[in-house]
Amino acid sequence: MTEVKNEYIHRTQKSQKMYQLAKIFLPGGDARTVTFFEPYPAFIVKGKGYQLYDADGNNYIDFLNNYTSLIHGHCHPKIIKAIKEQLESIQAIHAPTEYQVKFAEMISERFPSVDKIRIMNSGTEATMNAIRLARAYTGKDKILKAEGGYHGTHNNAQISIHPHLEDSNPLNHPKSIPESKGIPKSTLKDVVIFPFNHQQITENLIKEHKKELAAVIIEPVMGAAGIIPPKDDYLKFLREITNENDVLLIFDEVITARLSRGGAQQYFNVIPDITAFGKLFGGGTPVGVLGGRDEIMMLYSPERTEFLSQSGTFNANPVTLVGGIATFELLNDSAYTQLNSLGNSLKDGISDTFKEFGINAQVTGEGSLLNMHFTEKDVIDYRSASTSNVELCSLLYLSMLNHGIWIAPRLMSCISTPMSKKEIEAFLEVFRASFSLIKPLIRKLAPSLVAK
Ligand SMILES: Cc1ncc(COP(=O)(O)O)c(C=O)c1O
Repeated sequence: MTEVKNEYIHRTQKSQKMYQLAKIFLPGGDARTVTFFEPYPAFIVKGKGYQLYDADGNNYIDFLNNYTSLIHGHCHPKIIKAIKEQLESIQAIHAPTEYQVKFAEMISERFPSVDKIRIMNSGTEATMNAIRLARAYTGKDKILKAEGGYHGTHNNAQISIHPHLEDSNPLNHPKSIPESKGIPKSTLKDVVIFPFNHQQITENLIKEHKKELAAVIIEPVMGAAGIIPPKDDYLKFLREITNENDVLLIFDEVITARLSRGGAQQYFNVIPDITAFGKLFGGGTPVGVLGGRDEIMMLYSPERTEFLSQSGTFNANPVTLVGGIATFELLNDSAYTQLNSLGNSLKDGISDTFKEFGINAQVTGEGSLLNMHFTEKDVIDYRSASTSNVELCSLLYLSMLNHGIWIAPRLMSCISTPMSKKEIEAFLEVFRASFSLIKPLIRKLAPSLVAK
């Protein structure tokens, strides 16, 4: 580890200086918890297509894309042109623009569950408002949230994202655990935790709480927990059981919208009541979108005597909207086919490399999203994913960074449309080299991963 870390420090001297300066004005030098890693993150100066350039002149192939949001990579000329033109006419305005209609029409046409939308500035706002909308519509207060599920930073979402397993209760009744200090204890009683992919337990919990349960909120493929796909029919089962018990189903498609033209709901053919979107929808600018069927969404209509208020100074700002429109215009059927096929090739290549090296590690994923896990367990939920060896993760991450491949410290990767087979091969070459380097340590740190 020391060797890999020293190499990283040697390559990123200017970043190290900027980090020292940043520490004077930002707590721990950081402005976004998820992007921090030891010893310090490299400072980025430029991105173009799939390439990233840091302050020291190192370049990287970007397999993270601002955590999946830059589906067309960095600074796609068509998106930049649309945003530039918009910046020269109107930036943000206290009135509607024609773009909000075009944007809404595009989303409604693509995503099967969406008749109408509301537009905001982050995925956090989208899930926060989705939950409030479900409560307003059903008149009930509780929500059911997956253990390990990530829905942003509001209080209801910050429960049991990375709970310590020793504090978490048995699987059939996972405990609601605040992610940090500062989350009121009163939040806990309204957020019931369920284990993803465990049908019978999920059913029992829904039935137990149905009288007070407004909605089940779920990422169709769990993102932050490690790109964990749903088991066969798990989402279909959720749709049926929520319908039977008068509970709404909220899909958090902030990450999974990239799976197909109609997102995960079309990909898995399961239609939720409400959907939260974000990330790719803003073409690289801040965005959150909430969509659903007419009857539910009409609770926001100011034409009603009693309606849900949802303001935001930068809601539906035209810069975000034109960025989003340009992004969707580039996303035709062949773009999704290409993204998913490259994602599958990368997943197969990683899996073959694990076999070649005789290591029982896992790679999970769906379409253009994937995640490696240093565990011999089948990764099907938060608890199995959390058995991954943390030291090996950090080591592989830094080693790949040293060789020009940028993924997430938790070993998540995604594909962008400027990529081709060449970038997949480059990833696999660096992966194999890094793996040769760390293999002796695997024997030491996680001997159970070494095939007999
Ligand atoms: C599934 C999911 N939901 C919600 C969010 C929150 O979005 P934002 O960071 O834009 O607030 C994220 C962010 O990573 C996410 O992955």
